Parts: sequence; structure tokens; C-alpha cells
Amino acid sequence: MEELLKKTDDPICRMATINAVLHHKMDNFFWTGFYLLKDGELRVGPYQGPVACQILESNKGVCWAAINAGKSIVVPDVEKFPGHIACDSRSKSEIAIPLKKTDGSIAGVLDIDSKEFSAFDEEDAEQLEKIVSFIYTTKG
Ligand code: SME
Repeated sequence: MEELLKKTDDPICRMATINAVLHHKMDNFFWTGFYLLKDGELRVGPYQGPVACQILESNKGVCWAAINAGKSIVVPDVEKFPGHIACDSRSKSEIAIPLKKTDGSIAGVLDIDSKEFSAFDEEDAEQLEKIVSFIYTTKG
């Protein structure tokens, strides 16, 4: 993955590449994509999977929780997460990883949904944090 991400330092190219690799390698990833902060809104970025919500209602749901906490959130059962935003009713569990720029500011989240309950754990969070940490680094 690291080698692939060195080909350009454009964050959108890197996000698209991360999605393609993860979504097609990981059997239980039903929706794999990014939501990016712009003008105070969380807007959908590159993704793979079924059509998703384009804008997430402010300060509600899993993605906003990861952004507001500044840390990854693992949700074993989305229906038990207060305010969860259901873009697709087939999603049962979810993980959201905040994207940090080199100055520490948060640019958005990597969000992954599964059709299975408890598909993600803290180990997944650690691995995914490592992957997204490359997005805003400079090339070389
Ligand atoms: N469930 C997310 C919304 C995004 S979709 O899962 C693709 C949330 O609660 O923030």
C-alpha cells in the first residue's frame, strides 16, 4: 500500500487508491469511503460501494463522533449507536478513522461499513490509522 501511495501526493488520488485496495481485498467491507470537512459540512469524498449520503447532518452519527473526539470509533452494532446515520439499511457495523493533516488538524474521516455485526476491532483501527496517516504526507 505504501508504495502505491508514493506515486503522487494528491490526497484525493491517495484516498481513491486506498478505497480500491481495501474494498476489493477485504471480503466484509460493504462500503468503504471518505467524508471530508468543507465549510463546516461533512461531504462525501471518494468511495466504493452503494450510493451513500452526500452530506452528513452536523454533529450526528458515527463519522461526526470520530471527528469531534479526534479518535477512531468502532461500532459493533450501528443500531445501538445514538444518532447513527443509516445511508444503507444493510450496514450492521462500522468503523470511522479521523484523517489528520500534518499540522494535526482534522480533514475528514475514513468510514467503513460491514453487513456483519462486530466486523471491526481495535486492531483494525490501528492498521487503518497507519494507512490514512500517509494521505497528507509529502511524496518521497
Ligand atoms: N453511518 C455513518 C454515515 C455514513 S454511511 O455509513 C456511508 C454515520 O453515522 O456517520
